[in-house]
Amino acid sequence: MPHPKEFFPATRMRRMRFQAFSRRLMRENSLSSDDLICPLFAIEGHNQRQSVASMPGVDRLSLDLLVKEAETLLKLGIPAVALFPVIDPAQKTLTAEEAFNPAGLAQRCVKALKAELPELGVITDVALDPFTSHGQDGLLNEHGYVVNDETVDVLCKQALSHAEAGADIVAPSDMMDGRIGAIRNTLESHGFTNTRILAYSAKYASSFYGPFRDAVGSAGNLAGGNKYSYQMDPANSDEALREIALDLQEGADMIMVKPGMPYLDIIRRAKDHFGVPTFAYQVSGEYAMLKAASANGWLDERQAVLESLLAFKRAGCDAILTYYAKAAAQWLSQA
Ligand code: PBG
Repeated sequence: MPHPKEFFPATRMRRMRFQAFSRRLMRENSLSSDDLICPLFAIEGHNQRQSVASMPGVDRLSLDLLVKEAETLLKLGIPAVALFPVIDPAQKTLTAEEAFNPAGLAQRCVKALKAELPELGVITDVALDPFTSHGQDGLLNEHGYVVNDETVDVLCKQALSHAEAGADIVAPSDMMDGRIGAIRNTLESHGFTNTRILAYSAKYASSFYGPFRDAVGSAGNLAGGNKYSYQMDPANSDEALREIALDLQEGADMIMVKPGMPYLDIIRRAKDHFGVPTFAYQVSGEYAMLKAASANGWLDERQAVLESLLAFKRAGCDAILTYYAKAAAQWLSQA
């Protein structure tokens, strides 16, 4: 008979980790394709596919290919896509008229997607940066400052044009003050009572957006070089709660924290505080980091990506916008 030890751990945490079945039983969070939203970059033309140098594996697609890609995503169980149009620089203006053109690229993509794949949720980005010659999300005054209220007027026109095209969710990513309330009023007064608003409430002035700005071609010409006068300071956390509270009061249905991985603390605070549908955006720079390390053989891509997405769920996210949506849904379906 083995000699009884004088001391042993009263609780052995490892007991439950010993076999897969008990690890599964005590698992607190899970990731499924239901949690994923795939961003898609749209370009003009037919049968056009352009790669984005800083985002290997992400292509800009013409409408026909974009619809095909969306169909694949839908079949993989992904509930929604988020559209980002990339327009010809010649169409960009100081005041972003193309943003609310009913026959614009984003509006045509929405129509085609809703006609071909009605059950797929379509989310549009409400912000002016893909359409301004200066690359800022709003209109500039003579000092180069992004003016708030005039910008909000244009955002309302843009959001309305998206709703008229059939968008299920409009997602203002611009960080102007009061835009959620103004957009909600515009939608309600035009009969769009069921168009949801996903507010990019806590959007930080982040260096992790670099590859996205390459993808939409707004990087080279960004007047002033940064978006500090409207996007949030990465040092702040309480301020994010104030932004979210305002957007909810103004009529947001869902809130978003962006970027994702460096801001998991904000997601957790937001979820605990408000308990509303909380989304996060694993942005282009996060994708680029995971891709680059995986391409070098420094990370196991599948494991690292699924772990990163599960971390969003653990932090309190209901859904995640990620350029890895398709790959993750494929990996999950093989598991
Ligand atoms: C701009 C917008 C940005 C992203 C989505 N919408 C970039 C920015 O604020 O400059 C970034 C997304 C990403 O990096 O993946 N309205």
